[in-house]
Amino acid sequence: KSLLPFHTFGAKVKTAQFSIIKSLDDLKEILDTTPSKFMILGGGSNLLFTKDYDGLIIKNEIKGFEVVHENNSAVQIKIGAGENWHETVLRTADLDWQGIENLALIPGTVGASPIQNIGAYGAEVKDVIDEVEFYHHEKKEVMVYSNEECLFGYRNSIFKNEFKGKITVLSITITLNKKEQWAFNTSYGIIENTIAEKNIQEITPKTLAQVIIDIRNSKLPDPKEIGNCGSFFKNPVLPNQEAQKILDQYPEAPHYKVGDDYTKIPAGWLIEKTGWKGKSKGHVGTYPKQALVLVNNGGATGEEAWDLALTIKQDVFTKFGVTIEPEVNII
Ligand code: EPU
Repeated sequence: KSLLPFHTFGAKVKTAQFSIIKSLDDLKEILDTTPSKFMILGGGSNLLFTKDYDGLIIKNEIKGFEVVHENNSAVQIKIGAGENWHETVLRTADLDWQGIENLALIPGTVGASPIQNIGAYGAEVKDVIDEVEFYHHEKKEVMVYSNEECLFGYRNSIFKNEFKGKITVLSITITLNKKEQWAFNTSYGIIENTIAEKNIQEITPKTLAQVIIDIRNSKLPDPKEIGNCGSFFKNPVLPNQEAQKILDQYPEAPHYKVGDDYTKIPAGWLIEKTGWKGKSKGHVGTYPKQALVLVNNGGATGEEAWDLALTIKQDVFTKFGVTIEPEVNII
């Protein structure tokens, strides 16, 4: 079966077998009869298939949106892993619930959000997550992990490490603020500028989500039009001393403190400095407005994309001595 409709990079790849699950029972049934090789797929927006998949792809379409607790100031909701993330952001914003509006327009599913702890514009999903419910394939058991147990970090969690390939996320439970408790995060300069430009008088979850949508649309390619998988690399977090060497040479380099000892330098900036921004090799290139995003110019294979990624990685290392690691899952 062709995987073209199920991932956003648009590589022409196939899978030997394909199944959709809509419930925990579906999942259990499939796992009981499953071949040794399988993987769980959400929205397919954070992965790159470098070749055909010779196992079973299980698409998680477990739905659900349920209020668990509610009082005057906050609401706790449990959301099925197969729900679309962006639609969930719009749905909660419409209800005037605040907390995930900065994460508007991130492609993918709710179930994928805790795996890499999605983040944008000063917010991360870990800021609102109370619990993640998942099924452990070997233990054959539903487990619930608290926020602390998920070991969230920058684009990281226990689900990318110890539990990699071993679990399927069933739902997440998050707490959002009602109007009395609204606490918007507009600290990113570009958010403040856009609010001023658009002359927005009242900030609400809805208006701020729209600001984020406008910002993302101005910088990032729409996967429906141009195949891509978002930021291809993570922003490297360097010991201060190493970052300082770069800053001595390029005082204008954007950088952010991470704790007292580390500094994050945007991979997009490093890549731009190597000259790769907006450049292509074969059918793949980097997006002209954001060098961190690899784009499919049409007809690209995943192998080609991976090849370009390795070239870029090498060029960044040669120029800066910095190793950048993929943010997307390479399959
Ligand atoms: N920059 C350049 N050249 C480029 C790209 C970026 O000089 O080609 C500079 C920008 O001018 C800016 C800095 O690098 O000073 C940071 O750029 P940007 O604000 O676009 O964010 P980013 O660090 O490149 C991260 C996330 C994005 C998220 C944005 C917004 C990662 C790997 N990426 O990108 O997440 O939307 O911040 O908060 O952390 C994703 O994970 O798929 C993703 C899109």
